[in-house]
Amino acid sequence: MIRIEENYFIKELHTFRMPVYARWFVEYETVDELVSLLRSELLQQNRFLPIGGGSNLLFVNEHYNGVLLHSAIRETKILQETDSEVLVRVGSGIVWDDFVTQCVAKGWGGAENLSYIPGEVGASAVQNIGAYGVEVKDIIHEVETIEIATGSPRIFQNSECEYGYRSSIFKHALKGKYIVTAVVYRLQKQPKLHLDYGNLRSSLPEGNFSIADVRKAVIDIRRSKLPEPDEYGSAGSFFMNPVIPLAQYEKLKISYPDMPHYVVDETHVKVPAGWLIDRCGWKGKCHGGAAVYEKQCLVLINKDNALPADVVALASQIRESVRKTYGIEINPEVNYIE
Ligand code: EPU
Repeated sequence: MIRIEENYFIKELHTFRMPVYARWFVEYETVDELVSLLRSELLQQNRFLPIGGGSNLLFVNEHYNGVLLHSAIRETKILQETDSEVLVRVGSGIVWDDFVTQCVAKGWGGAENLSYIPGEVGASAVQNIGAYGVEVKDIIHEVETIEIATGSPRIFQNSECEYGYRSSIFKHALKGKYIVTAVVYRLQKQPKLHLDYGNLRSSLPEGNFSIADVRKAVIDIRRSKLPEPDEYGSAGSFFMNPVIPLAQYEKLKISYPDMPHYVVDETHVKVPAGWLIDRCGWKGKCHGGAAVYEKQCLVLINKDNALPADVVALASQIRESVRKTYGIEINPEVNYIE
């Protein structure tokens, strides 16, 4: 069934949980409903924005003058199963971590490092969510979409999605052109564990462990660094980790020998934005109701009834200070919604 709400208070529809109203909020449960909505006057005459769990959105105003379009397509279906792997099609409206929970319960490996990431399945394929050495692109087989202009279905193979760090063709060349309706994931029945990122291995028990143990370890690490959703509103990492030329890093290293870095390729390194922000002295700093999270400077939080303008101002001051101190531009991972 299609659900339509007008002048809708969307505090609970985005994880920053700020007091924002949307002119319209519309939810559909099937692909056919989506197609009929795309042809409707409401969507033909108003701007609209497909949203998932709202975990990567920053509404920059207290009113969104358009239609927020949310998928409640929640069908899950096994398409193919062999002794070694399973292809499963998951509706875009399924909560991402509910899917990970299911995979782990069934012993299907591949998603466990991505445990406890907020958001929904549709957005996972747009954002290429990642954590602890795994990105969702590693388990995506194909992405089912509807073309907005025509209402026609189109399936993108993984190789067509142009996946990169927190990016995909749906965020760039084809931004605003397709809506994801389902994602087909390829999971392993004899899981190969990925434990080499940061302190993941050292947080696991001695001896043999399962994907359930990995999920538990990832959740424990995330809980220790990121705010619990009911503690403070936030959008997880607010900024992406900047990729800089190796030569620039070598120069910076002279003044900042303890600057962490990860090699990207022969000529580039990635530097943690959280470290840069921390060393600029932002830990715990506030602007209005917004603040830099004490345990992880990469996360901006709604500490005390923040308004969109507080977060926008805090983020821009942080960017400016990192630019001035290190000559590095840090870019938001969250999407600014006008
Ligand atoms: N650091 C500081 N101070 C801080 C924060 C970090 O000094 O306030 C240092 C840490 O000590 C560490 C380095 O910066 O040396 C990196 O920090 P961390 O390992 O916590 O991870 P990250 O690079 O900050 C990325 C992802 C996270 C993901 C983790 C684990 C991005 C933008 N963020 O964070 O993703 O969970 O790695 O894989 O790539 C998200 O996207 O919402 C998210 C949480």
